[in-house]
Amino acid sequence: MCGIIGIASSKLVAQNIIHSLKKLEYRGYDSAGIATIVDNEIHEKKCAGRVDNLEKLLFKNPSKGSLGIGHVRWATHGIPSQLNAHPHSSDEVSVVHNGIIENSTLLKKNLEEKGYKFKSQTDTEVITFLLTDFLKSYDLVDAINKTLKALNGSFALGILFKKYSNIVVGARRGSPLAVGYGPEENYLGSDSYALKSMTNKITYLDDGDVCILTNNKIEFYNSENKKINKKILTLSEDKQFTDKGDYKDFMSKEINEQNITAKTCVKEYVDQLRKDINLYNFPINPKDIEKIVLIGCGTAYHSCITAKYWFEELTNIPIEIDIASEFRYRKINFNNKNLYVFVSQSGETADTYAALDLCKKNNVKTCSIVNVVESSIARSSDFVLPIHAGPEIGVASTKAFIGQMLVLFILAIKISEIRKEINKTDYENKIDDLQKLPDLIKDTINYCQDNTPIIAKDFIKAKGSMFLGRGLSFPIALEGALKLKELSYLHAEGYPAGEMKHGPLALIEEGLPVVILAPKDRYFEKTISNMQEVIARGGKVILITDEDNKIISENVRFTLKIAKTNEYLSPFLMTIPLQLLAYHVAALKNCDIDKPRNLAKSVTVE
Ligand code: F6R
Repeated sequence: MCGIIGIASSKLVAQNIIHSLKKLEYRGYDSAGIATIVDNEIHEKKCAGRVDNLEKLLFKNPSKGSLGIGHVRWATHGIPSQLNAHPHSSDEVSVVHNGIIENSTLLKKNLEEKGYKFKSQTDTEVITFLLTDFLKSYDLVDAINKTLKALNGSFALGILFKKYSNIVVGARRGSPLAVGYGPEENYLGSDSYALKSMTNKITYLDDGDVCILTNNKIEFYNSENKKINKKILTLSEDKQFTDKGDYKDFMSKEINEQNITAKTCVKEYVDQLRKDINLYNFPINPKDIEKIVLIGCGTAYHSCITAKYWFEELTNIPIEIDIASEFRYRKINFNNKNLYVFVSQSGETADTYAALDLCKKNNVKTCSIVNVVESSIARSSDFVLPIHAGPEIGVASTKAFIGQMLVLFILAIKISEIRKEINKTDYENKIDDLQKLPDLIKDTINYCQDNTPIIAKDFIKAKGSMFLGRGLSFPIALEGALKLKELSYLHAEGYPAGEMKHGPLALIEEGLPVVILAPKDRYFEKTISNMQEVIARGGKVILITDEDNKIISENVRFTLKIAKTNEYLSPFLMTIPLQLLAYHVAALKNCDIDKPRNLAKSVTVE
């Protein structure tokens, strides 16, 4: 959360900072700000709301200077406002910060006693005044070091100094930060995506690293204050994903390209000629695995629940699933015969990263399923299985969910084959199914595209809604409810259909929209009975099924018939109408689809 940009150049930087901040808005968008150095003075401009507001401010009163830092905020300490927007500056330094300073209350008290006057409610301002204070007695590197040592918690920082007016400083602990190498200028960014339009040569900072940028040089120091060299990586070109094209927003583009996500992913993992799945150098022999633990947050966690059903069915290995923010604080009995799998689109989610770190400290085997292969989670795990979805810009995860499920399913099939839990024919049939999946996804998108807008109208007027499914449709029900909540700000509950009579049935009343996911699987009849219970109590049922039988749809308000497939693949298709439904409800309510309120794409704080 929060986005940082810094540029050390010989040309004016404000415009490029604004351009990069727009790219970083997916990380936070409640306020924005910029600071530059002009004639050895710090000049700061900031405002509440989007980067567009900051741009308007700069249009009226342009920022000069060839050195600058910028920030987009996702509020943690203090309301979204101009005063709480970053940078936070004193006469001597200006700071942008991503992360949380856990001991800020104590530090603030000490600094106030020394006479420092705080203007904001943020935790960041303590960094500004700590630096200002240490600079009175120490040189640059020591003052930075002393400041960082005083901080508990997580941070990525971008700093400007009045006294050292040709440098931008970056520092990282717990929150990601990258530097970029440009022609006659250098950059600091909270991720490579923000830097991509300026350079494809980047270096990621590790925890404890500090970097000092001028327009023609970058120096790195580690946590012991020793000068170090770091690897420069070349980023791949992925322009087709970062451009909305003819779509109104990134989310509709990303929903519509899910067949391509599936196609690319299958192509990466499946050897069509040999009818086999490529999985080289896996960190643990699948025959020796005693248990698989799947860990993620939000939508990524939903892909873990889905995978539990596949793994249990196909591999005969005990499976545990965990929400990363819970896993990291529980007493876990680690076992080096277990495989710990971390699922994350961004690869930067703080809780997932902390859970992975805990596993590493306990010397167990880790594997990550990520979209961003250069991410902290990918770089820290023993083995990486990329989902190959390309950048996902819409804050609500769509194509990454399909990609995560697909890689998990592919992994389940391969482990099953290695452990001889399925025979060759079954294995090859599953591979054939994988090849058919992209077209089935495309057909489902096309069909649901036209039918979901009309269904969406029912949700606007209702006071809430429910999403129900059994078996593999249960996690998809959770995902459908999550998508609706985050995009349209309407209350929605996802439940296993069989749980209804244990409490949630009390919520059903005349006109409440209830989405029933009922593929023709082993649970079908049971789910339809649960649906009847809802209808009997006045619920307005939207049935999503691949069954033709018209009889089941009596008294159902809408039936969405999706493409027929087998039980294993139905979660992929069931997901699509739910994404589109959430999209259209949000569109009817005029919500900001790509940037829902209070959220951010990369959750780099706890
Ligand atoms: C929901 C959504 C979030 C993320 C969650 C984990 O649409 O996007 O629930 O899935 O914050 O993020 P990653 O996958 O980046 O670890």
